[in-house]
Amino acid sequence: MKRNFHVRRLSPLGPSEIIGLDVNSVQDQEAINEIRSLWNESGGILVFRDQDLTPEQHIAFSRNFGPLFGGPDGVPLQDTVSRYIHPDYPEIYRVSNQVDTVGAPLGRARAGTYWHSDVSFRERPASASVLYGKQVPNVGGDTLFANTQAAYEDLSQTMKETLTPLRAVHDFAVAAATQYAKPIVIDDDFDGTNRAVHPVVRTHADTGDKALFVNPGFTSHLYGFSVNESAALLGFLYGHLTRPEFIYRHRWCENDLLMWDNRMNIHYAVADYGDAPRYLERTTVIGEQPR
Ligand code: SIN
Repeated sequence: MKRNFHVRRLSPLGPSEIIGLDVNSVQDQEAINEIRSLWNESGGILVFRDQDLTPEQHIAFSRNFGPLFGGPDGVPLQDTVSRYIHPDYPEIYRVSNQVDTVGAPLGRARAGTYWHSDVSFRERPASASVLYGKQVPNVGGDTLFANTQAAYEDLSQTMKETLTPLRAVHDFAVAAATQYAKPIVIDDDFDGTNRAVHPVVRTHADTGDKALFVNPGFTSHLYGFSVNESAALLGFLYGHLTRPEFIYRHRWCENDLLMWDNRMNIHYAVADYGDAPRYLERTTVIGEQPR
């Protein structure tokens, strides 16, 4: 791809903004590879500024990185969020505090107001999430990202060796109990589809870099440990993961398209904007089984 766009670091952790690139021009394999390399070099966070995309174009760009949840070659997200899926585009999950003319939610309000890695409760969790900020508050509504590779690297060798053989159980039931009003939770979601066991330390499929892979949103406990034992170790890891040194805070501009890598970041959406309208659309790429 001819480099006629500008890349600027937003944080020492790597996140970068890309100015002057219409993502619709990312079509051939060379261009896709270049974006993938830039993404890997940017701590798994790229912000494409000033995008003007139809839902079809948003979906087409995202598909360059793998099959999508809700897409013809993928599986849907958990049933509980089906009410927030775009009525015409099953690949698009809507996040919004707004309602339509009959009072139905235009998206999930206060989505992701807890640290998590998207869909970590599936055998094949999300790799990329691609969130398009169509309407964002003037101030507030930022999204925080904690870099789970930097957090892993910062641990002592002894702690790294202690964590490496461990596995953790990820279960949508954790978020269902703490983040969702009881009447909207759909019982089908607890048939085992939304529960998976993953390594606590995962290795990135492209780069070979290691990252912590636990999050308070979906991780229920460490496999084979008692609840108390799990809580002690997981509590330490959650405090460590979310130290300010590992965090990039994204202040949204309208028409940002933010692509993050759930394999090396956990994120938290800050719900501090009251009734100021916020409407975003997300596609979610199905990743590989963590190893
Ligand atoms: C999410 O967790 O996908 C929502 C992020 C946001 O609303 O900023």
